[in-house]
Amino acid sequence: MRSRIMVVDDAEVNRELLREILEDEYIVDTAEDGEDAVRKLQGYHSEMAALLLDLQMPKMDGFAVIGEMERNGWLQKIPVLIISSMRAVEIENKCFDLGVSDFIRKPFDPSIVKNRIRNAVQLFGYKEQLEQKVEEQTATLKKQNQIIEMQAEKLKEAVPFNKLMMQYQAAIMEIETKLKVLNMEFSQEYNRNPFESIKSRLKTPESIFEKMARKGYPITVENMELLLSDVAGVRVICSFPDDIYRLKELLIKQDDIVLLREKDYIKNPKTNGYRSLHLIVNVPIFLSNEKKYMKVEVQFRTIAMDFWASLEHKLKYKKNVDNPEEIGRQLRACAESSAELDYRMQKIRNKIDKSKG
Ligand code: GTP
Ligand code: MG
Repeated sequence: MRSRIMVVDDAEVNRELLREILEDEYIVDTAEDGEDAVRKLQGYHSEMAALLLDLQMPKMDGFAVIGEMERNGWLQKIPVLIISSMRAVEIENKCFDLGVSDFIRKPFDPSIVKNRIRNAVQLFGYKEQLEQKVEEQTATLKKQNQIIEMQAEKLKEAVPFNKLMMQYQAAIMEIETKLKVLNMEFSQEYNRNPFESIKSRLKTPESIFEKMARKGYPITVENMELLLSDVAGVRVICSFPDDIYRLKELLIKQDDIVLLREKDYIKNPKTNGYRSLHLIVNVPIFLSNEKKYMKVEVQFRTIAMDFWASLEHKLKYKKNVDNPEEIGRQLRACAESSAELDYRMQKIRNKIDKSKG
């Protein structure tokens, strides 16, 4: 099907000339001045593939037409190609500033005009397609989010879900108790604490559903337990790096703990600079009629690593940060120097410990 274009020019010879050149490719409408063009656009701007616009015209000139198109939101949809005998660079630039797609000087070569129109129409076609795609994707995402929220609401009421959450909470308590016992023992026997603090959290229903949807898992309580390993999270903040490894060994050598997975981002920091030791462990909880193993994600960090991670976390979740690459680079550098500081302080502590004898 031929697309529709409009030639706006007050000189009839020009209109007819352009019509003749373009007729085999397009349905060519004409308008004899700006007012005529705007009136016609009001009628069928949505069908228009391009506008060829003269600048100097009686009643309403080309600039006024562009202004009117901008006000009506047509300029984003229809490419405007100026065809003018005006030769000043300022005029040409002014047109581009106003948002026209092309500027063709009179007299023109017919084949050039054709090619330029074809290009402009194609470009706007792609732009339109892209915009439509983005719009569709945004709508799908919104719908998915709504579904997730609805499912989250529904499951929060459901008995099996709440039971599972209770069990994860129990698993967190088991791990916390084990760590606290070790801390107590250490502080009595060696007068020091292997960790500074513990922060625990249950993943929120929204975050559980978001993750399952993102990974494409069907959302059921069984899948949650089977496929997620970070519903129960315990974060242990230590003073020194070697405390981390000592504490980890003491924890996993307990005969009811099963180490399922270990990621050592201290020995192998992530490229962004992130450092922590991550364990996924199975820990038994004792219910009225069963002993059940639950997965818990245990993250060990020094105070400095935790300080860094919370700052970096802010960057990750904040939209429209100015110059994120530069901030990322600075964060990486910070991670390096804070790791170095960790080890320097550890060395000093070792010297102090030794000198006590
Ligand atoms: P997730 O799907 O994000 O949980 O990743 P994963 O299951 O592959 O596990 P991983 O051990 O890499 O990360 C688990 C958790 O560690 C995350 O949920 C965060 O709490 C933390 N974490 C991992 N990488 C980073 C990071 O680059 N920056 C910060 N601030 N935290 C991180
Ligand atoms: Mg995780």
